Amino acid sequence: MEKKTFVTKEQLDEIVKKYPTPFHLYDEKGIRENVKAVKEAFSWNEGFKEYFAVKANPNPFLVDILREYGCGCDCSSYTELMLSEAMGCTGDDIMFSSNDTPAEDYVYAGRLGATINLDDFTHIDFLEKTLGAIPKRISCRYNPGGVFEMGNGIMDNPGDAKYGMTTEQMFEAFRVLKEKGAEEFGIHAFLASNTVTNEYYPVLAKELFQLAVKLEQETGADIKFINLSGGVGIPYTPDMEANDIRVIGAGVKKVYEEVLVPAGMGDVAIYSEMGRFMMGPYGCLVTKAIHEKHTHKEYIGVDACAVDLMRPAMYGAYHHITVMGKEDKPCDHKYDIAGSLCENNDKFAVDRMLPEIEKGDLLVIHDTGAHGYAMGYNYNGKLKSAEILLKEDGSTQLIRRAETPKDYFATLDCFDIYSKLDQ
Ligand SMILES: Cc1ncc(COP(=O)(O)O)c(C=O)c1O
Repeated sequence: MEKKTFVTKEQLDEIVKKYPTPFHLYDEKGIRENVKAVKEAFSWNEGFKEYFAVKANPNPFLVDILREYGCGCDCSSYTELMLSEAMGCTGDDIMFSSNDTPAEDYVYAGRLGATINLDDFTHIDFLEKTLGAIPKRISCRYNPGGVFEMGNGIMDNPGDAKYGMTTEQMFEAFRVLKEKGAEEFGIHAFLASNTVTNEYYPVLAKELFQLAVKLEQETGADIKFINLSGGVGIPYTPDMEANDIRVIGAGVKKVYEEVLVPAGMGDVAIYSEMGRFMMGPYGCLVTKAIHEKHTHKEYIGVDACAVDLMRPAMYGAYHHITVMGKEDKPCDHKYDIAGSLCENNDKFAVDRMLPEIEKGDLLVIHDTGAHGYAMGYNYNGKLKSAEILLKEDGSTQLIRRAETPKDYFATLDCFDIYSKLDQ
């Protein structure tokens, strides 16, 4: 599938007059259309709720768009809880799916009335001691171990993942939690990441539905929801076919009717905690070519670097690149597109065939809306970029300014660098 930018060259030329590159740009129209499709796909399930995985993109302006469509927040840390609370998202609207959780995070989640999703059996005692009691509504994260396989091969390796409880622990956890006063139970699992197939959710759902039936029968726990978590992927490369959320929703419905309904569990709510699928394609990193270097390879140096988008450096992940205004030119130049970090893996692309790039060209790096800005860091003293929303009417809104040196040095107040500088 051809990968197109959601912004035109003319629009971008105007935007860069106002906001210097690099920046992440988000597509309000795309976000809205997608969240509507997600709701529609699961409308057969009365209790369906998407808890947006805030870690994928913790920008309140973007999360607020999803909130308009009834989405909650999936939080994993204290500061994500703060962000949710500040957006007026509390109580059942928060799923707290954390791991290796500090006590203060549980205290905060408890105070907000969030649904706590326990990552480990030992956290039952820890939570009880921390909160003074087990909440009435509670969820447990499941990890069956082994490899997660589907018709088209191995998808991921849960046996190697630090998350979740074993099957035996799930049964024991439900028994113990019930004894300790829990009344409403949920099951959560995240078994494969970035799955670009319509089969992942249905296959996962079937496994969780079967487990839920057994858990309810054997422990007497009242299972209210099953959380399919994240993992629904997006086509980063042009040869991939995008998931169809309607087909995914219909696939989950089919197994729901096969497994849960006959077991008298036709009132169980389906939850999701998608991050990538909700935001990934609706963000891009806009950067400018500022240098070219001809040595053992041909390099284009851009003004963004891995602090703005870590996935290529961290995972060797592919992100498609469009050289704006040269979409129809032949891709007859082989480049490494590099940032300025003193790290050789700071490359947005390696040996990528692209049209000839000149200094000053704008490059759009696709699919940065999830796990993009959010993963950034400050290595080499690099400052994080701004975030801009391209609104439905074509106007733009700055939804996060770029970092300044002052932000970078803010935690060094014990040194007060500015009093020592001649500026
Ligand atoms: C607990 C949990 N839920 C949801 C997500 C979102 O995953 P994705 O962005 O793949 O949908 C993640 C991602 O790391 C996660 O750890």
